Parts: sequence; C-alpha cells; structure tokens
Amino acid sequence: MKLLDLRSDTVTQPSEAMRNAMFNAPLGDDVFEDDPSVNALENMAADLFGKEAALFCSSGTQTNQIAIKVHTRPGDELICDGFSHIYNYEGGGIAFNSGVQARLIHTKDGIFSPDEIRERINSDNVHFSRTSLICVENTVNKAGGSIWSKEKLELVSQCAKEENLPLHLDGARLFNAIVASNYTTKDIGRYFDTISICLSKGLGAPVGSLLLGDKSFIKESRRIRKVFGGGMRQAGLLAAAGQYALTHNIDRLKNDHENCQKIAHVINECKYVHEVLPHASNLLIFKFKDASVTPRFIAHFAAQGIKLVSSGPTTIRFAFHLDVTEIDLLRIENALRSFV
Ligand SMILES: Cc1ncc(COP(=O)(O)O)c(C=O)c1O
Repeated sequence: MKLLDLRSDTVTQPSEAMRNAMFNAPLGDDVFEDDPSVNALENMAADLFGKEAALFCSSGTQTNQIAIKVHTRPGDELICDGFSHIYNYEGGGIAFNSGVQARLIHTKDGIFSPDEIRERINSDNVHFSRTSLICVENTVNKAGGSIWSKEKLELVSQCAKEENLPLHLDGARLFNAIVASNYTTKDIGRYFDTISICLSKGLGAPVGSLLLGDKSFIKESRRIRKVFGGGMRQAGLLAAAGQYALTHNIDRLKNDHENCQKIAHVINECKYVHEVLPHASNLLIFKFKDASVTPRFIAHFAAQGIKLVSSGPTTIRFAFHLDVTEIDLLRIENALRSFV
C-alpha cells in the first residue's frame, strides 16, 4: 500500500525531472557568491517580484528570522497577528535572535487592518519599546490557509508607508494565495519591503527559501545568514530544484485547492466532526468535540496507510500537495466515511 502523507505540504518527494535538474546543475561555492545555479535562482526570484536582490536560504524560518534581525534592534517591537508563524512556531526566535518582542493583533483569520496596526504603534517615548516592523503572513497557516485580498494588502502597505515602518511578508505559501487571487508577484513586490518565499512547501522542492529586498537589505541579510550558520557551499544542487519548482509547479497549486474543497465537502457530511475552519487554499483544519476522538482518528487513518498529525488536542489538519493523486482522494474519502 502506497503511504499517503497529509501531515504537511512539506513532505513531497522531488520528481524525477526535478532530480535531473539537480543532478545536472552547474555548481560553485555560494559563500564566495560564485555558485551559478544559486545566482540564477536569486536573479530569477528577484525579477519575478521586481525586487533588486534575493538571498537563497535553508528554510522559511531562516529567511523570516534574518529579516527580523536586519529590520530591528534589541528592545524593539514588531507588530504581527496572533496566528503568525514567526510568533508561534519559530522557537521564540524573535526574542532569541533579535531581542525583539511581538505586539500581537488578535483576529479570526490572520488578516488585519490599518487601524489595528496603528493602535499598536508606540509613540516616541523612552518608556515604550520602539515599533520597528510590521509582519504579514499570506496564506495564514494556523488560520487554515486564509488568503489576503488585494484590497487588504493595499491598505496595510499604504499604512506601513505612511507610518514609515518596513513591511515584511512571510510568504511561505504565497503562491497558493497568488493562484487564487487577482494580484501578481510584481504587486506583492510593490506592497512589501521584504518578502520570504518557500520552495519546499507546495512548490515541491526538497529544501530552500528565498529572501527578497533591496540591495542594501540583502547585503546585510547575507552577513546575518553567515552569522546564523546558514552559509552553504555547493548549494546549486538545491537551487536547481528551486528553479525547477518556480518554473513548473506554481500553476498546479490550483489542483491542491480543488482537492481541498472536494474533501471538505465529505468532511462536512461527517457527523463526528464538530467544526470545519474556512479553507480557501490547500489546508483543511477541522475539529472534534472531544479530545479522545483525535488519537482514534489518527490510528484509523494510519491503518489505511494515511499519515496524519494533530495540530491541537481536538484539531486535525489535512495538507494537500502535489503527491496527492485522484486515487488518494478516494482513499481519504473512504477513511473519512468508515470512521466511527
Ligand atoms: C507560514 C509559515 N512560515 C514559515 C514557515 C517556516 O518554514 P520552514 O519549515 O522552512 O522553516 C512555515 C512552515 O511551515 C510556515 O507555515
């Protein structure tokens, strides 16, 4: 029985074509900045977003943490949503790496307004922490892959400019948002000062994220990446997979969204499910009433070769990705309908 892994969209295996691209990649030493495949990937990503420069890093955590470090000084405050990955899932890195504290906005979906930002900007007074950064996440992982609309992005971008604060985007799943929306990568490049995108989520590369910004920001980020131990040598092997992912795997993200909708219909019919969160992209979060159901549900799926993980005592998340086939959808449906 083929194992089906729905724990995350990070679990995908590189396709044969991607592996060939990696195998054939010309290589150098990226700490000396002469790996041609890394340089090509960085140029490609910077062009895609209309940014001056890009930096290839090992992970989305690393790109976010470098950005926070470069934008802030110890004792500063950044504004972000209570759902955000930088706050919940980066090991306290905001404090650990940058000595910065987070001022949270509490929303139902990770999407906030200029007013909610402005209420949290500290005035210039020695008693207060200096507000120095605003962070947006799109799509919002913990909120079930919710998607920022163009209008809302324009509003926060305008607000950040008026308040003279840099605006950073955690775009781990930005391309999921883009294929489902009416904005382009160039729009995103205009709205945000700095952008993190991940190649190893829905885009199917084995490793890698990119940080985008202007030349001086990326120059400083390169220094911080080295300090964080993130300088890689023949990284072109990985960058080639990233180039392949950006070229071939963006449009197909729509399939993952369709698959998510199809399974959501089935889940909505399951009496044992208490609540299904809004599911605009590839992540489907649902809850049981009683925590005792969760391990039984996971065991029932495991017995049918489907790997799941809980994301809370009563919460399960299905992540749809490029290794989920039509037949797999039937397997998921059968497992859902046969659970008692
Ligand atoms: C929204 C978001 N940002 C950042 C990350 C971190 O990415 P990585 O696992 O590559 O460190 C993730 C990981 O799932 C994520 O969902």
